[in-house]
Parts: sequence; C-alpha cells; structure tokens
Amino acid sequence: MCGIVGYVGKRNATPFLIEGLEALEYRGYDSAGIYVAGKGVLKRAGKVSVLKSCTPSDFIGAAGIAHTRWATHGAPTENNAHPHTDATGNIWLVHNGIIENYRAIRASLEAEGVVFRSETDTEALAQLVGKKYRELPILEAAVAAALSEIRGAYGIAVMSTREADKIVVARLGSPLLIGMGDREYYVASDATPLLPHTRRVIYLDDGEMAVLTSHGHSITSLTQAPIEKGIETLEWNIESVKKKGHDHFMLKEILEIPEVIENAIRGRLDLENSHVHLGGLADAEERLRKTKRIIITGCGSAYYASLIGELLIEEIVGIPVETEIASELRYRRCTVDPEGAILIAVSQSGETADTLEAVREAKRHGIFTLGVVNVVGSSIARETDTGVYNHAGPEIGVASTKAFVSQLVVLALIALYLKQCHGTAETNILQELTRLPDYARSILGEREQIEEIAAKYAGMQNALFIGRKFQYPIAYEGALKLKEVSYVHAEAYGAGEMKHGPLALIDPEFPTIALMPRDSVYEKTLSNIEEIRSRGGKIIAITTGSTPQGMNEVISVPETHEALLPILTTIPLQLLAYYIARSRALPIDMPRNLAKSVTVE
Ligand code: G6P
Repeated sequence: MCGIVGYVGKRNATPFLIEGLEALEYRGYDSAGIYVAGKGVLKRAGKVSVLKSCTPSDFIGAAGIAHTRWATHGAPTENNAHPHTDATGNIWLVHNGIIENYRAIRASLEAEGVVFRSETDTEALAQLVGKKYRELPILEAAVAAALSEIRGAYGIAVMSTREADKIVVARLGSPLLIGMGDREYYVASDATPLLPHTRRVIYLDDGEMAVLTSHGHSITSLTQAPIEKGIETLEWNIESVKKKGHDHFMLKEILEIPEVIENAIRGRLDLENSHVHLGGLADAEERLRKTKRIIITGCGSAYYASLIGELLIEEIVGIPVETEIASELRYRRCTVDPEGAILIAVSQSGETADTLEAVREAKRHGIFTLGVVNVVGSSIARETDTGVYNHAGPEIGVASTKAFVSQLVVLALIALYLKQCHGTAETNILQELTRLPDYARSILGEREQIEEIAAKYAGMQNALFIGRKFQYPIAYEGALKLKEVSYVHAEAYGAGEMKHGPLALIDPEFPTIALMPRDSVYEKTLSNIEEIRSRGGKIIAITTGSTPQGMNEVISVPETHEALLPILTTIPLQLLAYYIARSRALPIDMPRNLAKSVTVE
C-alpha cells in the first residue's frame, strides 16, 4: 500500500527519493509525488516512471519527502496524490494510514475559510498542521499539536518551506524507519529503500516522533518528552531485493523455496536428540506446556497457512485449535478463557492492519500472543509476547510464494515444539523436514512440464481447485494464487463438497486442479474426481507415487509425511499460476488493484 521515503543531509535528496519510490513500488500504488526543499512539488497519477520522466534535472535539494499512494479516500488523481500542503503552501506532508476524523477537521477548517484542494483525508492533516504552524512556527510543535487532535492511523513525514533542513516524522499504527547515514538521514515506510544506503536503523514505535536535520536527530513522544532509542541492524542485504536475472520476482522467489526451507529450519532441529529449538519460545515453555486452546489468525495466504497450522497442531499435539480470518476475529465477541489460551498471528510483513488489531484485541483480553512473522522489527513482531521469525528474506512479488512456504515450515516447527513441551517427539516428521529442501528442488527441476501445462490451459476462464484434509487449505491457496496473478476466476472446495453444488459448474471448459497425493484421504479424493470425470470435466492432478489413471495432466511431487505434503503440493500451484499469468502477459509482480502489505482496514 502507500509508501513513504525522505532524505535530509548533505547530498542531493532527489535520486534517493526517486529510487526509494521505485523500491516501494512492489507494495502496490496508483499515484506518486515528491517534494524537494527549495524546488517544490511534483505529482503524477500512475507509475513512478511517469513522475521520474517529468522530474527536471535541476530538481535538486538537500532535503525532501516522497510518496506512493494507494487510493482510499478519493480517486488516484494528481490532485489527490501526496505530498499535500496547507493554505499557505508552507507545509508539505506525506501520510500512510487513515485519518478517521478527517471530515470533522475539514468541516471546522472550511468554516474558518480554508479552501481544500483534494478529496483526501490526508489534506485535513496537512491543513491542520498548517493552522498550528501559523500559531507557533516550529514544525515539530505544530505537528505534535495537530496529531493530538487526530483519530486514526498514521505514518507521516512533514517539511516546511521555512525550515528547509528539517523533516519531522511521526508514527501511530503505520510503520516508519529512520536510516542512519553519515550526517544524513533516510526515512522509509519499509526497509527496502534503505538497503543500498545503510543497514543502521531506528524503528519508530507508535506514539513517537522524530526531528531529523543534517546536524542530528531527536526522538520524542507525541507530547515531545525525550525518548532514548537504540540503533538496530537490518538483517536483509541489497542482493536479496534484486531480480538476479529473472523476469519476475515471483519466479525468483519460487525458485528460492529450497533455500527458504533451509533457512527456516537452520539451527532449529537437533536430529540426534529429536529436539526442536525455537529461541523465542524458550522463555514461554511453561506456558506452552499448559496450553489448552489455540487460536490462529492471518489474512490472505497467511490465513491459508494458518488453516494448515490448525491441522498440524491438532494432528501432532492434540490441542483444540480454531482458525479465523483476522478481519473477522477482531470483531467477534471474545469468549476465550485467557488461562491456557494462545493466539498465533501469522503475517509475512508483520504490518497487516487486521492481523495487528486481532493481536491487540487478544492482548486486551489477557491472551498470550505469538507471532509467525518474516519482517524483523515489524509491528506484529514487536507487539506479540513471543514469536518465531521465518527468515525467508524480503518477498517483493505481491502474491506470497516463498513466505507462504516458510509459514508452513514454521508452523510445523511450532507444532513439534508444543508436542515436545508435552514430553514427546515426532521423530519421523522431524527427519522429513530436513529432506524437504531436496524434495522442493526436484519439483522446481521439473518446472518446464508445468510451463507446458500452463500454455495449454492459459485461455481458461474458470478453474476449480479441490483437496481434502491437509490439501484442503492448499486448494484455497492455489485458487487465490491463480486469481491474484492471472485474473482467472478460480474457486476452491473441499473435495467432499462436490455433490453439494460445485458439480453443477463442471463442463469440458471448466478444469479442476485436484490435490490428490497418496495420503490418508487419497481414495476418498479419487472417488470425488471420478464424479467430475464422468461429467466431462478435465483434471490436472497433483499427486505422489504412481500415476493415477484417466487424468488429463499429472504433476508429481515427492512422497513425504502427509502433514508436510502441503509444503510440496503448493509449489506446482504457484508455478502454474505464474506461467499462466506470464502467457497472458500480465504484470505478475504487481497485479492490478492489489497491495503487498494491507496496512489499512
Ligand atoms: C496481501 C498480500 C498477500 C498476503 C496478505 C497477508 O493480501 O497480497 O500475499 O498473504 O496480504 O499479508 P501478511 O503480510 O500479513 O502475511
């Protein structure tokens, strides 16, 4: 979703601001804008490349802010793009998040004669900062005064024409990082723009603001009480955010899956003693032993990973688990007894607004929270009581691939760890986990076959995905992947539901992707597939072992424990979605209307 970058220092800010916006493109956006001290503002609807091409070569200054906007209030027009200004044109502000009481603020300012130029909630904040600044012309004081009247979520960066060497940033519910250079500061709403410049960062927490100039920085609360904060080191490096010769990040990230599985289990499995080490959970062992009930939550692919987590924990540990989409969970009446309950929040970015709010809601009810998060230092990682990092590296493609796989691996580790807290080990699963990277490699080695199948089916209008037990959530994830990147209408069903409705859809033009590895429900799934075949439906089978008869296409994955099979069967589905989208020449890494990290409700 929206992205923020900023720079203040000795050099020309413009190159960093433009490159920073490019680095944030993957998050999803529909307009972009830049403000540079002494030069003014440029905004364009559409891509950063459009903004870049109209930026004059003398658009140079030692401080500036820039923004990619994903429209919420008001269409994605030049007028609605950030930075926004106040009535005098002194204040320039970029904002991620939503100002909930903007209508009231706008009405009261309009009553005082202020003329608004956009339809956005952000302009209300820019105008309010402007009003405060006219009363007391110290930028940080004006920002603090304005924010005290704001309800909602924000990450903001603000400048004034009258204090050209200063950026004020503040955060409540929308991430902001400050990159530390040599007498220069970088600002970004996620780590990717910072990686080519510095790995030394300060993570701003909710309720904090910072004043940055080329002479130094200070961090305070929103009431301007000083706060001491340590400098942290970013884990990722610049190589990890490059395509490395691939046409798309999505393919590059799928091909990284073997390595991603290795990274998720590295140092965490002791095969000799059949032991799982999860550093983050060690302190919570006593509590985990007493766990009576688990709730897992997430959004999008993370929700489907959560559904597999539910099956893993129930099968391996035998504790009741309930999984709920975060946007639903946060508004349900909480009837959970916090004693012996745990909420597991699954989120690649650690910034998804609904998942974060579900965590906060659980904490308000005294429930212990555990994060399965990829981005170190993200909001969910910081706000959960404990957690396990995925260590999957940055995921740039909007559709989750490698991060989804790593979520499944981490949830399997958590299930094994819980079992261990109850005094027993699952040696077989433990050993199979170490074989998964090679199994994944062998699937990827056969990707040409999937490319050929994709070419055959690229023109399809609809697709059905079916599976049972551990393959049931993978059917949903497979359908989601196809929808996201290739815009093909795809539905998913538990294979046992076919007779309850979806069979009516079946005809020779409506293929079914059947997840049917030889697991404990193989025979059942096979008879559901027969029902489809006998009605003229085409079947693309994802299976293990010997090839089942009568399928139109067969994609084989190696055999492993059925609880780990989702980690393998999801890979051909990701490749299928990728190749179909590619043959339709679609913008795979940035599908229309979608954002990588959904930071508003
Ligand atoms: C967006 C992304 C999905 C992702 C979901 C949850 O919809 O496009 O790929 O699964 O958000 O994101 P999270 O960062 O919480 O895992």
